[in-house]
Amino acid sequence: MIETSSSIGIINEKFNRNNLFLTTDSVEVLATQESTKLDEFIEYLKKRNVTFVGRDHIDSFFYPQVEAEATFEYTGENLPLDEFVPATPLTADHDFRIIKDVTRKVLSEGTCKNFVDMFRSRYRKLSRMFRAKPTMRDFQPLSVVKKMKIKDMVKTVGIVTDCGTTRNGHTILTLEDETDSIKALLHSRNETLAEQARTILTDEVVGVSGILGQDIIFVNHLEFPDIPGREPNHSEEDIWVAVTSDLHVGSSSFMEKAFLRFIRWLNLKYDHRAEIARKIQYLLVVGDLVDGVGIYPGQENDLVIPDIMEQYRNLATLLKLIPSHITLILAPGNHDATRIAEPQLPILEEYAPDLYSMENVRMVGNPCFLDLHSVKVLLYHGGSLFDFLALQKEHDDASVPMVEMLKKRHLCPMYGNVPMAPSEEDLLVIEDVPDVFVTGHIHVNSYQNYRGTTVLNAGCWMEQSEYQKTRNIKPTPCKVPLLNLKTYNMLVMDFGA
Ligand SMILES: [Fe+2]
Repeated sequence: MIETSSSIGIINEKFNRNNLFLTTDSVEVLATQESTKLDEFIEYLKKRNVTFVGRDHIDSFFYPQVEAEATFEYTGENLPLDEFVPATPLTADHDFRIIKDVTRKVLSEGTCKNFVDMFRSRYRKLSRMFRAKPTMRDFQPLSVVKKMKIKDMVKTVGIVTDCGTTRNGHTILTLEDETDSIKALLHSRNETLAEQARTILTDEVVGVSGILGQDIIFVNHLEFPDIPGREPNHSEEDIWVAVTSDLHVGSSSFMEKAFLRFIRWLNLKYDHRAEIARKIQYLLVVGDLVDGVGIYPGQENDLVIPDIMEQYRNLATLLKLIPSHITLILAPGNHDATRIAEPQLPILEEYAPDLYSMENVRMVGNPCFLDLHSVKVLLYHGGSLFDFLALQKEHDDASVPMVEMLKKRHLCPMYGNVPMAPSEEDLLVIEDVPDVFVTGHIHVNSYQNYRGTTVLNAGCWMEQSEYQKTRNIKPTPCKVPLLNLKTYNMLVMDFGA
């Protein structure tokens, strides 16, 4: 349908009447929607106190939404490790492959050259994404931009090597590509730019267009690589995936009883939602499987199992109680026995031989990109989440920074806080668009849908630590998100007592 100016006029008027303001881009998209849907959309925006309506709001409303429900009434029965009878028949063949994983081949010497190569790789991968965007495809390298005439309109893409604020409150970026560098000024009176400026991290790649000054671009428009809005891939089979992370086995705060309750539920020991338990074919665990040793000063006082191999043996004992037709995909976190620098290799076999000997276990790296029955799943423990959370008021909703990662198409843009193992290729660029994106690390369950991608943080199995108290992070232990790969229905089960 071709939008007419009258329909655009009507839409503008309708939204203005409700104190909602649309960008030109938004009006054009809305002009193609049914008018009844528009009323629902207005209600949706009003409930969220939105004033300026952008593409993100449209995408979040019109693309499939996650339906969540916190459930599970625990009846209080005792929890002996009784006979776990394999009770769940397979509903479909397993069909998964690892699309991209870090392997033992990805070794790094941490040399200066490794870092240069990694940033070059980042720039090349992300600038290719800008080349594919209609709005940015004619961008020029900085060496060309700098030869243009003052007051010319310019368009370029660069790594943000510095981000500061001027005395007048404007944001000033230093952008660099393989040919040159230049300053870029984002005026504080431009609300869109000011909003974008608040989310910028150093070492990310952005696209800008604006007017050239003397060694500076006065920016009119800034873009992130971003993901396109789209319908996600669906599994043909009616399959559920359980997602969890941050068990911290070995810590005195590990909530073993609740974890056993989850295992009993997987074994159909409860009627509650048994129809879903029967269809779970994968359990994704996104890091911090054990508490580890020597991770922070004084950790020995918080451990009930001080030996890391013993911690993994205990974990294996628990995981062996899960019905064997459920494939367990285990990725490491910063507490696990592998290098701490990202990308992380899988947990090392010498520390966890029992896990490696389990037929239904696949040990993967961090990050890892999987194909589960055609659904593309990105797993990342979440080392960089605190870099992002430092920029926002809300300190424990991981789904907000996860959306930022998707916009920036990078899992850990800022160099400095998260240990990094540089290599020829920057493996933390989000090259392919995931349908499902999972992190852990923050210990707080949260989720949302962004442009068709289901974004979720798993939660944890650990009570609030002293460290979390100092950061005012309130964990949500024992919650397990369950996702249907065919319908994208989601339930969050709470196994806490
Ligand atoms: Fe953790």
